[in-house]
Amino acid sequence: RITSPDTGSATGTPSPRPVTTGPELSIVLPTFNEAQNVPLMVDLLEKTLAGIDWEVIVVDDNSPDGTSQTGRAIARGNPRVRVIRRIGRRGLSGACVEGILSSSADFVAVMDADLQHDESLLPKMLEELRADRADLVVASRKVEGGTIGEGLSSVRAWGSNIANGLAQKLLNVSLSDPMSGFFMIRRQKVEDLAPQLSAQGFKILLDIVSSAKGALRIKELPFTFRQRQHGESKLDTLVTLDYFGLLLAKYFGDVVSVRFLMFGLVGASGLVVHLVALRLFLVMGAMEFNWAQTAASFVAMTSNFFLNNQLTYRDRRLTGVRAIVGLVTFYAVCSVGVLANVGVADLVYAEPEYWWLAGTAGAIMGAVWNYAASSALTWKK
Ligand code: GDD
Ligand code: MN
Repeated sequence: RITSPDTGSATGTPSPRPVTTGPELSIVLPTFNEAQNVPLMVDLLEKTLAGIDWEVIVVDDNSPDGTSQTGRAIARGNPRVRVIRRIGRRGLSGACVEGILSSSADFVAVMDADLQHDESLLPKMLEELRADRADLVVASRKVEGGTIGEGLSSVRAWGSNIANGLAQKLLNVSLSDPMSGFFMIRRQKVEDLAPQLSAQGFKILLDIVSSAKGALRIKELPFTFRQRQHGESKLDTLVTLDYFGLLLAKYFGDVVSVRFLMFGLVGASGLVVHLVALRLFLVMGAMEFNWAQTAASFVAMTSNFFLNNQLTYRDRRLTGVRAIVGLVTFYAVCSVGVLANVGVADLVYAEPEYWWLAGTAGAIMGAVWNYAASSALTWKK
């Protein structure tokens, strides 16, 4: 959209440099190992979006297959293409939010870079927003006329239905396909909601809609989910755990973060590990109680460390030597956590009948300390 047309130099004054207003639509493509798909994707967008002022923002989490380099190579010859390369971070939602916030266009679309989403729907989605009939247009596989086609295995289709039902019940989200990774939204809406959005997980749409608490005018358009051509899906079973974390966090009105919930769940699993290990050391190892208790604590801390490293801090996962250093700092953090726990419990414990209150206060204090300190020390940014 060139707003200041070149009026020529009939009057003798030099013609002004054309002033452009920047693209109207940004397409955010989160990528992880999509080097083969990105060039095809850009070609498809070029064809579909002719006549629209658009740009594409590839948000790559430092893919080992060199997706960001491929993206940059295209960008050098095509001003519509931009690449954000993120290092030390992983996560679909965070990548989408970062891409959206890097845009200055009025409208932003998020879609998979693997050609599973039907790009020919984009102009129709844009039309809804331009005409101000909606703030958010969701490409749905479940609305009349849409289908999951060949895109999902039957197991995943089944899981996807359960996840949908839960979202609809727990969060009052009335979308037919709240898991869709394909939507277009007024950028300002995301700017407003951004502080509440979780960078973790992959359910960015669900996060946006539930955080908006009914304030978005939503329109759903049907589409058929295509099959992946190159590469493989990155959404593993661990990712679904994250989803339940998001559901819980949102259900409880965001009082606690998804990360803290995960940390708490891992902590609870640590208690079970501790008790099993303690029993084994006592019975099979015939250890003295204090030694058995100490050894069991280390087993539980180690198991908590690995689970947190796999789940809670997936996006900052420590590997190699850094994992060993991390484990040692985690032991240190948790040892202080025990002191905090016992100290607070002792303060609260005035009457024997309130043992449970003291115990709970101590445990919460210990968990809060462990969480805060380990995020600052062990999994520091
Ligand atoms: N930057 C970044 N970081 N991108 C990622 C990451 C990540 O950690 N993980 C995945 N992606 C990118 C992929 O490269 C792809 O472009 C897109 O996100 C979707 O990932 P897939 O691995 O292809 O997901 P899927 O096809 O299994 O799942 C799709 O369908 C789900 C519903 O069934 C996605 O659209 C999901 O969002 C959707 O919920
Ligand atoms: Mn996919």
